[in-house]
Amino acid sequence: MCGIVGYIGNNAVADVLLDGLKSLEYRGYDSAGIALNDNGGLDVFKAGGKLNNLFEVVSSNALKIKKPTSGIGHIRWATHGKATIQNAHPHLSNDGKLVLVHNGIIENYKELKAELEQEGFVFNSQTDTEVAVHVIDREYRKGCSLEQAVRQGVSLLSGAFAFCIMHKDEADCIIAVRKNAPLIIGLSDDENYIASDIPAVIGKVKKIIYLNDGEVAVVRKNNVEVTDLSGNLLNKKVEEIGFNPEVISKHGYKHFMLKEINEQPDILRKVLAQHIKASDLPVNLGQVKLKLDWQRIENISIIACGTSLHAAMVTKYVWENWLGLPVQIEAASEYIYRKNTTGKNSLVIGISQSGETADTITAVKQAKEKSAQVLIVTNREDSSIVRYADSVLPLEAGIEISVAATKSYSAQLLAMYWLGLYVAEQKKTLQPAELGKIKQEMLELPAKMEEVLSNAENIKSVADKLQAYKSVIYIARGSNQASALEGALKLKEISYINANGYAAGELKHGPIALLDENMPVIAVLAQGETYAKMLSNCEEVKARNAKLIAVTSVKDKHADNLFDDILRVPEIREDLSPLLLNIPLQLLAYYLADGLGREVDQPRNLAKSVTVE
Ligand code: F6R
Repeated sequence: MCGIVGYIGNNAVADVLLDGLKSLEYRGYDSAGIALNDNGGLDVFKAGGKLNNLFEVVSSNALKIKKPTSGIGHIRWATHGKATIQNAHPHLSNDGKLVLVHNGIIENYKELKAELEQEGFVFNSQTDTEVAVHVIDREYRKGCSLEQAVRQGVSLLSGAFAFCIMHKDEADCIIAVRKNAPLIIGLSDDENYIASDIPAVIGKVKKIIYLNDGEVAVVRKNNVEVTDLSGNLLNKKVEEIGFNPEVISKHGYKHFMLKEINEQPDILRKVLAQHIKASDLPVNLGQVKLKLDWQRIENISIIACGTSLHAAMVTKYVWENWLGLPVQIEAASEYIYRKNTTGKNSLVIGISQSGETADTITAVKQAKEKSAQVLIVTNREDSSIVRYADSVLPLEAGIEISVAATKSYSAQLLAMYWLGLYVAEQKKTLQPAELGKIKQEMLELPAKMEEVLSNAENIKSVADKLQAYKSVIYIARGSNQASALEGALKLKEISYINANGYAAGELKHGPIALLDENMPVIAVLAQGETYAKMLSNCEEVKARNAKLIAVTSVKDKHADNLFDDILRVPEIREDLSPLLLNIPLQLLAYYLADGLGREVDQPRNLAKSVTVE
């Protein structure tokens, strides 16, 4: 949420900053701005709305831009204060000399603002960020160095922040500092970069430093010095960037979402090759180092948000069946504000694609404080959440750019499947023959997924027919309850059509009142114990004149007449079926949203990493 960049070097600073912001656009798109330091003047350019507006502002001011040596930039996801130009970053001190960009939330901003106003500081925005400018400026004006002013200023702030700070009189440096919000420094010859996330520096630098909480970096053209908040010099590890520029290209697809949906079979293949090599071989941990004491574990809680929470739902269903252990799942934002029963005999699993979701981070931090064992399942091994992990299970899905999670969901399901099988093998909770059958079906998943993707045209034609509707209901049972919720989430977040998922058996306890010819119902069906009950629920829907669409892995000629449209996936056992049945649901949401002309990769009001609670 919010992306920040900084650059100091010989290249055209404005272009470098805009380019960096472009690759961080998934973090917010309410407004954008840059500040350029040219050894004698500070120029600030801002625009409301999408980044393209800032490109226009900068290009129409091209003649005014001299030859800046450094600059900082920001892309905003509004928290405090509306999405106006006035609230857009960068924010300036009252003398117009100190400027900063911020990602995070300053929780004590009201108290600080009152104090600063009393002292005569004037506020020009409704943001929490502006207090940071003034507290740092107040220290600087007392006569200390910019670096020291930053240290003293940020020590007064509570909440989360990553800042890039510049001063007109110190054009040879940018200061970067963080607490509970990500920040990296990209290193190159005669130039250095600062960014909220790696995509902003991919293809520009090969080496990076991850800044930790409470660290202050003084970034100059030819060197970077990192100290702690007391000023002690730190010897930071310099790491190679593990991604190539390919990962941030659309590869000819219209949207990143479509590209990411299509990447799923290959991701599955890659992960399976590491962990399930054959149906008659034990699950292989590969590079994953599990430091968990399974003997100690009496209960399992899986904590996550949004799509990752749906992966947790599937896991509960499957693991309780495979392992016979109680598995609780909970939205991280709820878990952290109640007296939960997590203790030293608990295994707490945090699932987070980004590893930067504030609620999930707080939850696993609390669990760690209660001596629980913590396993983190994430797509970003370099993210903040791994600090609280005893063990990390990387998803290996590659960087996900589209705001709507697709490939990371499949990778989460696969990770929880193979890990579940591994534990079942260790604890001998599944018979070898059953283990072999599950592994065999897992190995067939990538090809089956390809088959579903090759049916995209058919899915699009069903999506086209749904364009006229204002609301859609999704129903399912068993492990696919999560598919119904995930299908509905995907649709609402990118198309803005009201969509709700229900356990099919719950329909008759209320939601059925919504059904008529204006309310299409998408039924997700898998073979298994509840299939017959699902069909009965579908009959009940049909009897209310609702348009009924099946997304199904079951070949059942007798049922075909029941449905207005059928989206088929290859046959698959019920516990693994969410992985396949979710693909038509992703594509349905995609084609519907695209057909309605929505900005699929950047849905309104959302951002990819939800770094605020
Ligand atoms: C939906 C979506 C969100 C995320 C949620 C958690 O498409 O992407 O619901 O799943 O914000 O994010 P992570 O997994 O990064 O913790």
